[in-house]
Amino acid sequence: MVNLNTSLNQKNVSKGPPGTSGGGPIFYCEDVSVQFDETRALKNIQLTIERGEIIFVTGASGAGKTTLLKVLSGVQEPTSGKVIRPNAISAKKNLYISNVFQDLRLMGRYTCEENLMFAYDSAIYKDKNEFVQDMHELCRILGIKDRLNLKINLANGGLQQKVAIVRSLLTRPDILIADEPTSSLDSDNTRRMFDVFNLYNAKRGLTVVWATHNKELIKSFTGRIIHLDNGRLVYSGHACFI
Ligand SMILES: Nc1ncnc2c1ncn2[C@@H]1O[C@H](COP(=O)(O)OP(=O)(O)OP(=O)(O)O)[C@@H](O)[C@H]1O
Ligand SMILES: [Mg+2]
Repeated sequence: MVNLNTSLNQKNVSKGPPGTSGGGPIFYCEDVSVQFDETRALKNIQLTIERGEIIFVTGASGAGKTTLLKVLSGVQEPTSGKVIRPNAISAKKNLYISNVFQDLRLMGRYTCEENLMFAYDSAIYKDKNEFVQDMHELCRILGIKDRLNLKINLANGGLQQKVAIVRSLLTRPDILIADEPTSSLDSDNTRRMFDVFNLYNAKRGLTVVWATHNKELIKSFTGRIIHLDNGRLVYSGHACFI
């Protein structure tokens, strides 16, 4: 487990244990369906996500996980039904969503550190030192500090996934939508990734929507599981259902 006593600034966030709601609804899906030619990827999804939740979207390959994440992030519009995203809810304006897609979208010719430095934004950090401090803290927790000089296209899949997640968190999002961010990681490293999400959830109020195949591993994590089966949302809850 990670030492949560870090230098990250604390935001006003929801009360209660990490990963639970309390910040009010930020996403609504009402009877959402998505049709691709012959395939109905999502079928009549009813879903509310509250600010500050940690959500795991599970389901077999082809169940509709990626399509649901794309609908939430606005990359995909529903064929029918309605989705209300954070900035359409008047009281919740200016919430920033960061996406980590399955293909990661890193810059292969650049080093891990250079890829991370692209996340620096003078509008959200006091100065570069503060950014570098956060970057080193995240890299320390994920155990990649000594590999930052490696070029991305020479890094293994696990390192690339960690860089993509760190880059995303360094933009200080309110909501992180991550599609299989740990598919190349073993259970120990997946746990570290969860520790990082938990840390940002507790300290900065980060809402996390995380798609994963790995039902077994997340059984020990705190958060809500949304299970999809052939495009249908068949389970939503904190208890383990299998
Ligand atoms: N752009 C597309 N055009 C046509 N069919 C699509 C498209 N995107 C997804 N599908 C189909 O929709 C269904 C759901 O796909 P989706 O990628 O959401 O599943 P998934 O749960 O993310 O799967 P995986 O675990 O393999 O990533 C699948 O049958 C897939 O083939
Ligand atoms: Mg997918």
